[in-house]
Amino acid sequence: MVTVNPLIQLDLPALRRRRSMKWCRYPGDVLPLWVAEMDTPLAPPVAEALSQAVRMGDTGYADVGQLAEAFAGFAHSRFGWWPDPAHCVLVGDVAQGIAEVLRIVTAPGDVVLIGGPTYSPFRRIIPNIGRVLRENPMTRGADGRFRLDLGRLASDLAAPEVTAYLLVNPHNPAGSVPSRADLVAVATLCEQHGVRLLSDEIHAPLVYAGREFVPLLSLPEASRAIAFVSASKAWNLAGLKSALAVAGPAAAADVRAIPEDAQVAAGNLGVHASEAAFRAGGPWLDDLLAGLDQNRTLLESLFAKHLPGIRYAPPEATFLAWLDCSELGLGDDPAAHFLERGRVALSSGPEFGPMGRGFARLNFATSPEILADGVQRMAAALA
Ligand SMILES: Cc1ncc(COP(=O)(O)O)c(C=O)c1O
Repeated sequence: MVTVNPLIQLDLPALRRRRSMKWCRYPGDVLPLWVAEMDTPLAPPVAEALSQAVRMGDTGYADVGQLAEAFAGFAHSRFGWWPDPAHCVLVGDVAQGIAEVLRIVTAPGDVVLIGGPTYSPFRRIIPNIGRVLRENPMTRGADGRFRLDLGRLASDLAAPEVTAYLLVNPHNPAGSVPSRADLVAVATLCEQHGVRLLSDEIHAPLVYAGREFVPLLSLPEASRAIAFVSASKAWNLAGLKSALAVAGPAAAADVRAIPEDAQVAAGNLGVHASEAAFRAGGPWLDDLLAGLDQNRTLLESLFAKHLPGIRYAPPEATFLAWLDCSELGLGDDPAAHFLERGRVALSSGPEFGPMGRGFARLNFATSPEILADGVQRMAAALA
């Protein structure tokens, strides 16, 4: 079978013509390797679904249509889990879905626990809805990756003011994927302490060979949990706005309580595109994963050659590399230095909270040439 790497199909001039945030935030001499958008064309079935919708002029308010069934089919074929489409509710995006569900399952002033380092928008969204964010620090394993610290989690969940725990699986920015045993332990602990468990599974399609992704809701221990899924990361559809809140069997009433207004935040084109991605985007996803896998390894050799002071553990999932730059002597925010002196934009570590000091996050969902240019720019910033 001929495979085509979606990461090598667009050149720099074509990418610079894009109007998305990744390509527009910085001046034209900066190479953008920051926000989680990919430098790929659309998967052909997604492009076809969108063209058809545009030809039909089908750009009114979104209806969930067959999206939940399409996701269920994808989850079954990839993860061996069949979610109940009747327990899925359309939301505009994962971040909004999490905020809406937290409003329903917690009270103002409650503490929401989340594994640190923390995906930066959660640091704003949770306080914005009047809840208190508390970090549960992950622990660094011998392989250099940050993982759940179950001992610390057990004690943090015991605090009475903690009423919800937001798991991010696979984790952004750490790139780690918790084991089945860890997930069972997390769900059991949450039940013991009466803490509602939410699981952000937006990166689930992007797990590399060698690691198993276990959907939280496939575990009987997690029947009261709520998961959030979307095609937006794996098929690069973030601007189209479509995600699902998926309830465990004992939490269906909670997702049904999501207000209608929140569902209207979804885009109809997002629903068309996501349905096509889940139904027919598997082969393209496999090609993408092969290209991303090569890039995560290429990054190791690029750092060994140009920037041996960086500590990088290739992620088990996602196209995001969490870089420990603390030995480079660049202070808390190495990304600021790389931007100013190297004209390459990474995500700033401290935006992920106190555990991000001395770190930067690099998005490697691009061509090997652009990646090499990015690392050379980082190295040049140290000269
Ligand atoms: C872990 C995680 N959750 C949520 C989001 C945001 O997703 P959405 O655009 O659907 O809100 C991202 C985006 O990169 C993410 O990495």
